[in-house]
Amino acid sequence: MSPLRTRRAPAAPAPRPSALRDGIAGARERLLAWYDAHRRELPWRAAAGETADPYRVWLSEVMLQQTRVETVRRYYERWLERFPTLEALAEASLDDVLKQWEGLGYYSRARNFHRAVREVAYAYNGEVPTQPDAFRALPGVGRYTAGAVMSIAFGRPEPLVDGNVRRVFARLTDDPDPADGQLWELAETLVPGSRPGDLNQALMELGATVCTPRSPRCAECPVADVCAARAAGTQDDRPARKPTRPVPHEDTAVGVVDRGGKLLLVRRPVDARLGGMWSFPGVVRRRGEATVRAAERSVLIALDVEVRACERIGVVPHAFTHVRATYHAVRCTLVSGEPREVGCDGWAWVAPHEVDAYALPVAQKKIFALAVASALPAPSG
Ligand code: ADE
Repeated sequence: MSPLRTRRAPAAPAPRPSALRDGIAGARERLLAWYDAHRRELPWRAAAGETADPYRVWLSEVMLQQTRVETVRRYYERWLERFPTLEALAEASLDDVLKQWEGLGYYSRARNFHRAVREVAYAYNGEVPTQPDAFRALPGVGRYTAGAVMSIAFGRPEPLVDGNVRRVFARLTDDPDPADGQLWELAETLVPGSRPGDLNQALMELGATVCTPRSPRCAECPVADVCAARAAGTQDDRPARKPTRPVPHEDTAVGVVDRGGKLLLVRRPVDARLGGMWSFPGVVRRRGEATVRAAERSVLIALDVEVRACERIGVVPHAFTHVRATYHAVRCTLVSGEPREVGCDGWAWVAPHEVDAYALPVAQKKIFALAVASALPAPSG
């Protein structure tokens, strides 16, 4: 009898961490059967027996990094209406691409995906490379994305580990803090065999829907009998929670230059945070620097024009992953000079009815709305 089967009875000895390895074949089969019965219907998933479109799989995997499935669903459908094929995306401008990504955050994902797709269009005749090494050499493609696309779109036995898989493996092996090397090794052990893409998705799906961070539903788990944490009763503490590090805070002064109701926006340098997106000029306030002076400085640095601060508009907080920002918006008027792209990649005077044509991060949209709501009516005539 398989070592996996003998461990169901409560009185049976706890599975050793290696029990999973001993019974890999059985665990694989049960994961696949569970996936067939319980997988969510998601727009990027091919129907059983059909082949997935590599462009769509790649897009979905890039969107799903850092973003929840329900949010991705909406963006994914809208994206495909705008860029239905890899060629359509390769031909699009970065502005268009960022506009479609607006609100999803982590905009480097969109910039890299766009660059990578252009490389595929020009260097690979529009065909997503099927060789893992060639695919991994594309901008923004890391080990996870390569494993996902190679296995799901091309049926290659390439492993993957994401946050959900890490949790599933930490519990199966009852390891509070599994090292990356061990996680990838276990993924590599599991993936060879039939349907590697479905196997990878089964692991992620299990983590997302059953082996959840809190209150895992072990009674519904197809591999509970080889789960060392379940046997030890430690599943709620695996993986161990890391102490949260304090997130640094920045006060950013924002210059809102108003000329007859039009507001001056800049396109952020591509290699900056939120690169390629449109925003108001802004700088992190120096120690001891007055907010209004910092706002004036922000416009000078970005556009080489002198402005005078005239009123504080409001404060917008925003939490990035690694920093919390508080934006202090200050209305300014032009004193001298014509804008020049000295610290940005472009600029535009934008009326309220035009702003939807620009890709703005969430906090900048809020500042724009505050500036419009608090503005004096534009002079008539
Ligand atoms: N998370 C990221 N990609 C996924 C996929 N293809 N299936 C389930 N969860 C995922």
